[in-house]
Amino acid sequence: MRVLIGGGTGFIGQHLGHLLQENGYRVTVISRVIRPDGVTWNDIQRHGLPKDCTSVVNIAGENILNVSKRWNDSFKEQVKKSRVETNKLLAKAISEAENPPESFINISGVAYYKPSETDEYTEESTGGDYDWLSKLTTEWEAAATLPDSMNVRRVTVRSGVVLGQDGGMIQQIYFPFFLGFGGRMGTGKQWFPWIHVDDIAGILAYAVKNKSVSGILNGVAPEAATNAQFASAFAGAMWRRALIPMPSFVFNTVFGNERAKIILEGQKVIPKRTLECGYKYKYPDLQSACRDLSSFFGRFGLK
Ligand SMILES: NC(=O)c1ccc[n+]([C@@H]2O[C@H](COP(=O)([O-])OP(=O)(O)OC[C@H]3O[C@@H](n4cnc5c(N)ncnc54)[C@H](OP(=O)(O)O)[C@@H]3O)[C@@H](O)[C@H]2O)c1
Repeated sequence: MRVLIGGGTGFIGQHLGHLLQENGYRVTVISRVIRPDGVTWNDIQRHGLPKDCTSVVNIAGENILNVSKRWNDSFKEQVKKSRVETNKLLAKAISEAENPPESFINISGVAYYKPSETDEYTEESTGGDYDWLSKLTTEWEAAATLPDSMNVRRVTVRSGVVLGQDGGMIQQIYFPFFLGFGGRMGTGKQWFPWIHVDDIAGILAYAVKNKSVSGILNGVAPEAATNAQFASAFAGAMWRRALIPMPSFVFNTVFGNERAKIILEGQKVIPKRTLECGYKYKYPDLQSACRDLSSFFGRFGLK
């Protein structure tokens, strides 16, 4: 059983690759660069899918919150192309494959749902038409569409903010919190749809393994929290207090208003179908996740 992972070299991709290998799968990554354990996007374009792949997962995407990149039209185009074009290329390769894989699984984001302090969203909620980011998720998901006649199982995981010690947001905030300078971001009242990296990798691997899983799954933890509740739990797990708020203007200045919304606004997202399909979370609540994320030795792979 071979799983092909687009973007398998990244933060989530590496966790997913290890988990699948522990479960007996062979993993091949698709990258922009030539690697001993992988193929490139150009290889897929020229030669199609490797013959023996049983599942294709796409989690490629230019990092939206890359502070070194200005939020302008050219970067937005890069963000979009890295998601939409990679999904389209894989959908085409799958539809042209002599032996198509059993499943095609993609990641997307909870930006699909309109930010709100009062509304709750499940996988059945409407969205995808609100602002640039939510329209991007619609195009991103649609790009993975396969012809109706194909018997390939499709799953889309709409991920929240992924928390892990070796990548993403925790890498940026660990030391300020460790030194006691942590606090809420913006008003702190915005929902913070979070998930531990072991669980986002877990949900993707569960989708690979279980033939009964299909459609949209929300990739968030069952315990919803606001940004202030998260900051307080993360600081508390380090025996600190979250006393120093980061004001909205800092995020607006660093990221630009449109991109800063990812942090300053949020959605209350419920993983209704994810739970119904039988996935068991390793970190369902903030306390257990923050205990793991705050471990100083965990940063060096020691638990
Ligand atoms: N981390 C989060 O909190 C979060 C939340 C919601 C959704 N997501 C989505 O999950 C996916 C993976 O996130 P991550 O945190 O693992 O990101 P990451 O660590 O930045 O990894 C992204 C991967 O995408 C590939 N990539 C980057 N730019 C690309 C481009 N221009 N064209 C083609 N491939 C490109 C990279 O592979 P190579 O360099 O090897 O080509 C890299 O392995 C992204 O699509 C992201 O939007 C992440």
